[in-house]
Amino acid sequence: MNPSPTPTPTPTPDDSHYLHGSSPAEQDRLAKMNEMMNGLALKEMALRVGESVLDVGSGLGQLTRGMARQVGSGTKVVGIERSDDQLREARRFAAKAGETALVDFRQGDANALPLKPEEWGTFDVAHTRFVLEHVRDPLGVVNQMVQAVRPGGRIILEDDAHDIFRVWPVSPGFDRIWNNYIRTYDRVGNDPIVGHRLVSLLHQAGALPQRNTWLFFGACAGQPELFHTCVENIVGILLGVREPILKLGDFEEISFDRCIASFREWGQRPDAAMWYGISWVEGLRGSQ
Ligand SMILES: C[S@@+](CC[C@H](N)C(=O)[O-])C[C@H]1O[C@@H](n2cnc3c(N)ncnc32)[C@H](O)[C@@H]1O
Repeated sequence: MNPSPTPTPTPTPDDSHYLHGSSPAEQDRLAKMNEMMNGLALKEMALRVGESVLDVGSGLGQLTRGMARQVGSGTKVVGIERSDDQLREARRFAAKAGETALVDFRQGDANALPLKPEEWGTFDVAHTRFVLEHVRDPLGVVNQMVQAVRPGGRIILEDDAHDIFRVWPVSPGFDRIWNNYIRTYDRVGNDPIVGHRLVSLLHQAGALPQRNTWLFFGACAGQPELFHTCVENIVGILLGVREPILKLGDFEEISFDRCIASFREWGQRPDAAMWYGISWVEGLRGSQ
């Protein structure tokens, strides 16, 4: 599940909007979610020892380091990240884990990858997760990724389609808040359901789509620790976007807060469950 928006997204030079919070509590929440989802993602990627990897929008770098561990030390793994804060934290986490040498973290933009001339067309795998939903021109990013891999190299895209999230039983007002959350993406020109478009983006970028699946995110009350983390993650996302939602004018402050409180109570129900899937696709660069 994608992390949360900040209240006042700021336009950036490349005209994309990154919607995450970067407070320590927020980063801690994102790091926990990351650990949960990385195992699934790595299994799906099935990287082979010696494969060079480019990770676009590498964030805090946990997944990038996970990929690096799979391909083995001494193999080229590059993480590209636009935010200085994220980059600094990624390097700090890597140092803390004694893994500084595993990944070459570079500052740069997904729409204009900072690769050396001799690096273009050489990577075995180019991967991105939860980035296309934050940029104005997702096809531009996928085009860059296709150019970065060698002929026959793999391009892997993971992202959100927020409209598929479901909870049961009904939690009062929850669907209304969630729909408002989705509208906040539209408001800044980002695509809240880009996950549905991944195969199409690969095709448009001239790659050959090979595989389409979902990585399951969800739990039920019978999995107390996991379920609590899932519920609190959703609460964190919605609190992070409280102000933009209130600005949409569909909610009074008091009813927003009541819905969040109801959702937390819902999280205590013995019959509660939630379902979500992270869209995951893989394509190949053709022989050109
Ligand atoms: C939700 S995080 C995901 C991080 C990482 N891919 C993961 O799955 O753990 C999205 C990351 O993409 C970065 N990002 C957003 N727009 C970007 C751009 N145009 N170029 C490079 N990085 C970007 C953000 O700064 C953030 O660190």
